[in-house]
Formats: sequence, C-alpha cells, structure tokens
Amino acid sequence: MTYPALPDDLLTRLAADPHRPAYHCLPPAHWMNDPNGLIQWRGQYHLFYQHNPHGPFWGTIHWGHAVSPDLVHWRHLPPALAPDPDGPDRDGVFSGCAFAADGTPTILYTAFNAGVQLPCLAVSYDDLLTWHKHPANPIIQAPPPDLDLVGFRDHSAWREGSQWYQLIGSGLRGVGGTALLYTSADLVHWVYVQPILVGDRDAVEPLWTGSMWECPDLFRLGNRHVLVISVWDERPEWSTTGSELQYAAYLTGDFTAHRFTPLSQGRVDHGRSFYAPQSLTDEQGRRLMFGWLRETRPVAAQIAAGWSGVLSLPRVLSPRDDGRLGMEPAPELERLRRQGPHWRDVAVNELAEAGLAEAQGDALEIGVEAAVGPDSQLRLAVLRSPDGAEETALVYDGPSGVLSLDTTRASLDAAVQGDVSSAPLPLTDGETLRLRVFVDRSVVEVFANGWLCLTSRVYPTRRDSQGVTLSADGEVTLRTLDVWPMNSIHPLHDLRGGKAGHDDHD
Ligand code: FRU
Repeated sequence: MTYPALPDDLLTRLAADPHRPAYHCLPPAHWMNDPNGLIQWRGQYHLFYQHNPHGPFWGTIHWGHAVSPDLVHWRHLPPALAPDPDGPDRDGVFSGCAFAADGTPTILYTAFNAGVQLPCLAVSYDDLLTWHKHPANPIIQAPPPDLDLVGFRDHSAWREGSQWYQLIGSGLRGVGGTALLYTSADLVHWVYVQPILVGDRDAVEPLWTGSMWECPDLFRLGNRHVLVISVWDERPEWSTTGSELQYAAYLTGDFTAHRFTPLSQGRVDHGRSFYAPQSLTDEQGRRLMFGWLRETRPVAAQIAAGWSGVLSLPRVLSPRDDGRLGMEPAPELERLRRQGPHWRDVAVNELAEAGLAEAQGDALEIGVEAAVGPDSQLRLAVLRSPDGAEETALVYDGPSGVLSLDTTRASLDAAVQGDVSSAPLPLTDGETLRLRVFVDRSVVEVFANGWLCLTSRVYPTRRDSQGVTLSADGEVTLRTLDVWPMNSIHPLHDLRGGKAGHDDHD
C-alpha cells in the first residue's frame, strides 16, 4: 500500500521546490497539521497526521499515515481515516491518539460536524492499515452539560488498572484553558470526572496559556508528570501569531487524585512555527515528541507550492532537576550525516572564512560547542547569500544570556515576514553553549544545551543562499564545530506514490 498517485505536473513542482525539506517528515503533497496517534507497533513507528489530501490548505481533514522502522525514513501509506458523509465526522477527522487496548490498536479522535466536536473510537485488525469506526460513535454524546466551554477536542488516553482515562482539550468560557478528564471501563461508555487543571486566560506569568488548550498530552517522565498543551486564543488583541493558534507549552508537576499540580512550566519551542505536538513512549522506553511546523509564508505561496506544513524532527524528552523539559534530537538522525568539515579548539576570530566556505548547504546539521564569556557574543549565520543580502542568524548574547533566531533577513521576498524569536538561555558557571542546528531548506530547528528549542520557517529566494558563517564579538573559543551535510529522506520515487510502484520497504 502506498499513498495515492499524484499528477505529474505536481510531482515536477515538488521535486524542483527549493523550500521543500529534505530530511524532515512531510506528506507526499498537500496539507499537513498536527501529528496524531503516535505509536510504535511491532517495532514500526506509526505517525498519523491531520491531512487534507485534496490540496495545500486546511479542509476535509483526514488522518494521513506514515510508517518508519527507524524514526528517520518514512514510508507514506494511504490516509488511515477519512470523513464519513453520513457520520459524526462528516466535516473532518480531527486530532487524537492511538494506543493498544488488550492487544488491539485503537484510536480516539475528534469527529467534526457542522461545528460540533465529539469523541469517536476506531480499531484496526491489520497492523494499523485499515480502521473500523465504532458503531456507537460518537462515544460521548455531548460535553458536560453544566460547563460553558470553548472547544471540546483532542485526546490523550491511558490505562490505570482496569480503568481507562482520557483527557479532552477545552476552555472554560471567560476563565481559561483546561483539560477535561473522563474515565471508562470499556472505552465506549465514558463518565466525566473533572478538569485536571484550569488556566487563567489573562495571566501572563509565569506563562500565558490562553483561553483554550488544544492537543493535551499527559505522561509520566521520571518521577514527575508532564502536561503538554497547545495554547489557543480567539481574542485578536492576545494574538502573537496573527492566528488563534499560539504555541505549545509544557507544565511539569504532579498528577494525583485526578488533579494536576504544576511545579514549573515553559514553552516547548520558542520559535513561531512549532505547534500541536504529540508524544509517545517507544519500545526502548523513550518519550519521543513530534510537532507541526506550520508555514509562515502567505497562503498564495502555499497554494502555488502544492504543499503546506512539515513535522519537527523527533525529540527525545527527559526530566531535569530544574523542572525544565529536557529535549534532544533523536540519536537516529545521526545516520543522515555525511562527511563534513570540523574544527576543534579554535578561537572564532581565527577561523578562516575560506575554511567555512566548504560548510555550505541547505540541508545541514551544525554542531557547536563554545565557551562564550559574559562579555561576548556568538553569531552563526546560515542560508546566507554570498553578499549577505539573505541570511538567517542565530545569536547567543553573553551579557543578556539570550539566544535569538533572527529571520528578518532570511528572505528577499517582500511577502514573507520574518521575526526575531528569542529565549533566555542562562549558562551556569563554566557551562559551554551547546548548539545543534538543523538547517533543512525552509526549516531551521535549533536545540540548545539539552533543553531549549527554537524553530522557525524561512523562505530564501536565492539559490546561492547556502552559506554558513560564524563570527564573534569579544572572546569566543570553539571547543567543537562540526558541519554535516544531511542525506535526503525523500527520493523522488517516494513522491510518486502508487505510480512508481515500490520502494525498498515494500
Ligand atoms: C490544532 C487543531 C486541533 C484540531 C485539529 C484540526 O492545530 O486545531 O485542535 O483537532 O487541529 O485539524
């Protein structure tokens, strides 16, 4: 089984598109938003996602489906769930989760019909290829009657003893975001318990969490629990992104007696693209997260490209004593590295510019470990044209301890708006700055010091915007600098879906 064949003119456009990522996972074409139903089943990683198979815009939402033996190379299968013209999901199969229930792969998702959002169940008996929607759908007929809610969608499910639990994302009107807890003995009959936590939509400290929480994801990590939410708010005056979708946030704390008590919180990613993440525990016991990297270019450009949206790299989550959420790129990604230049123990100001010229490319991983003094600044530019007219700059400023990703000059296209995304990255005494920077055509995804992430989308116009430069103000010593060209995971025959027939996984 493969993804349905695509027309030749679209394939030609996709193959020639300089903005189409080479090693991030994205559908063969058309629209993608949230990752859904992440699960490892019989050794294979299954990744479903919100998908419109009819075009590069949100609508007629299906569950796209990709499968991978190694978290890196993905084979695209036909969409797994489609709206049913006579069903409660007539207008869309919205986000949800997947899990094994007594050995049966099971999905809980949100059915969308004329603005109404209700939970539904589906099961698979053929290793996740085809899905049977439960005849009792929607399995919850209406939200709790005594609550005035903003939204009722997206699911996180788990089992404790003989009981199943699920969270549904929501908001209490006029109050703030929430996640509603339900319990069931059989996954079909559900009893409402209570909100596990309610946010304050007007509070900005310690972190603004908006008026509704999309995509709640609750899991244990070490000896704590983590609640990941996607902050949504319909009030234009609160929008930081020009839309209702804001950013993903995490709260670490304790979940006991059906209540979540946060101890610390933060943004999952400080760029402006990362949204609606979901996570899974794999067979190695790792907690892995993927997020949706939405476009920050105009709709017309997305339509012209024939695709929209891409997933983040898989991130391995870890608990930290300081309450932050640890995040590192999955080590499997190192398999994509090709031989590239590297430097050891050199002052940035002694790096020969000619040396860095070998480091250029639009699909790279760049690893930096540097001692940046409190009076110094380190600046790494990528996707830079030889004259510097286009570049994306990552700056670590010693005096303020702030890491910034500046995309204001990433593109000469006047229709594309860049920004400066920044976050405090305080270094403790003697701590070096450790960066893993993933450049992938229109994606720049940055991991810093094992916990801070900054991801943005960029759309350079020039074919020669492929340079890498490193500069410093003051004293900056590089312990290591590595530049690896990265292999593509999307050979053209993959894009041809059913048409070209087979790839080596078939
Ligand atoms: C998040 C979201 C979810 C919803 C889905 C619809 O981006 O709005 O809340 O289930 O997308 O596609």
